[in-house]
Amino acid sequence: MAIDKKIVSILPAMRMILSEDKIKVAKISADTDVSIAHIEVAANDDAQRVLESFKREVAVYKSKKGQLPQIIHLKTLGVVAVAETAYEVDCLLSHSSTEKIMPAKGRAVGKTAVVTGGAQGFGGGLAEHFIKDGANVIIADLNEEKGQEYAAELNKQTASNKAFFVKVDVSDPDSVQELIFKTVCEFGGFDVIVSNAGILRAGGLDEMTPETFELMTKVNYTGYFYCAKYAAPVLKLQTAHKPGYYADIIQINSKSGLKGSNRNFAYAGGKFGGLGLTQSFALELMPSRVKVNSVCPGNFFDGPLWSDPEKGLFVQYLNAGKVKGAKSIDDVKAFYEAQVPAGRGCTVIDVMRAVYYIIEQEYETGQAVPVTGGQEMLN
Ligand SMILES: NC(=O)c1ccc[n+]([C@@H]2O[C@H](COP(=O)([O-])OP(=O)(O)OC[C@H]3O[C@@H](n4cnc5c(N)ncnc54)[C@H](O)[C@@H]3O)[C@@H](O)[C@H]2O)c1
Repeated sequence: MAIDKKIVSILPAMRMILSEDKIKVAKISADTDVSIAHIEVAANDDAQRVLESFKREVAVYKSKKGQLPQIIHLKTLGVVAVAETAYEVDCLLSHSSTEKIMPAKGRAVGKTAVVTGGAQGFGGGLAEHFIKDGANVIIADLNEEKGQEYAAELNKQTASNKAFFVKVDVSDPDSVQELIFKTVCEFGGFDVIVSNAGILRAGGLDEMTPETFELMTKVNYTGYFYCAKYAAPVLKLQTAHKPGYYADIIQINSKSGLKGSNRNFAYAGGKFGGLGLTQSFALELMPSRVKVNSVCPGNFFDGPLWSDPEKGLFVQYLNAGKVKGAKSIDDVKAFYEAQVPAGRGCTVIDVMRAVYYIIEQEYETGQAVPVTGGQEMLN
């Protein structure tokens, strides 16, 4: 049975109402036996009223049992389980033992993070760090085969928190809305969305076609707007039901969002525009305790964009003779590394540190955090 889309305006609030000192995970199932539920709530009303009845039922259950309910029958919508880890929630819904489930450990415990473009590159690396650090991760990517495989690989590393793949095209608003819906059904909500999916097709004015320009703008710029637009209601619902709790929208921008990029204007223009969105979203959302920031990494030489042996920029630049005197990929790489004061390209951990700074720092929003090894400095 399909789950009603209305759940997006109910479950994130339920998750927070049942989170006391630790932020929990909630999941809805349409085919779980309702007889295992601890409480029952009528859900055929508007979201606000459903939540009011839910709070009343929770209070009654708590006063009787001395603890919070973990399994809730939302009548006509499904059965919801709420627990500290994603695996515990799955066990509750399948009516199996939760005894052997280990608590999640690490810097990001209690967080659920959506990472667009999370199947490879920077996004893949950030997803791996989140998993190792105890968070749940939604790998949201256009590449279904790679994304599914990667989520399965990450799940081998953990038995408490979870990676979950959702196919998305960030340039399609319906697809992003569906991503948010599936995330809410699986985890009850999310605490961080990293708008990372991006594409690069370089070219000067003589080469750039209107179609390529349009495609890059839709993915790199408009895609960020769609992520913020459909993520914001969930994040605001959560902050409204949990005093002192902050949520994050983080855009992976670029050093090309800070300085023009020769024969690469479609990319730089979209990234510059992204910072305008970040600052404006930040002004709108900080009163609701949703922070919005960008990270501006330098070149990720070890990632597929640069290092892919067939299509990577190193091999392209070598073949095109772009670096004078370069005879090998290593020569091209050395030329670009020499332009960075730190003497090397940007890596995933460099970006992850900036992401953690943003998440953990409650007193900052609307910023573009440079991670360029000194190649770009703010003015
Ligand atoms: N690679 C770099 O040197 C570098 C430097 C600075 C900033 N960045 C930024 O970092 C982000 C990630 O770059 P990367 O180099 O890791 O990229 P990548 O090409 O290695 O990975 C991008 C991922 O996004 C996915 N994707 C592409 N279009 C999509 C769409 N429409 N919807 C959903 N997913 C889509 C791809 O399938 C892929 O898995 C981008 O925003 C990029 O602009 C990259």
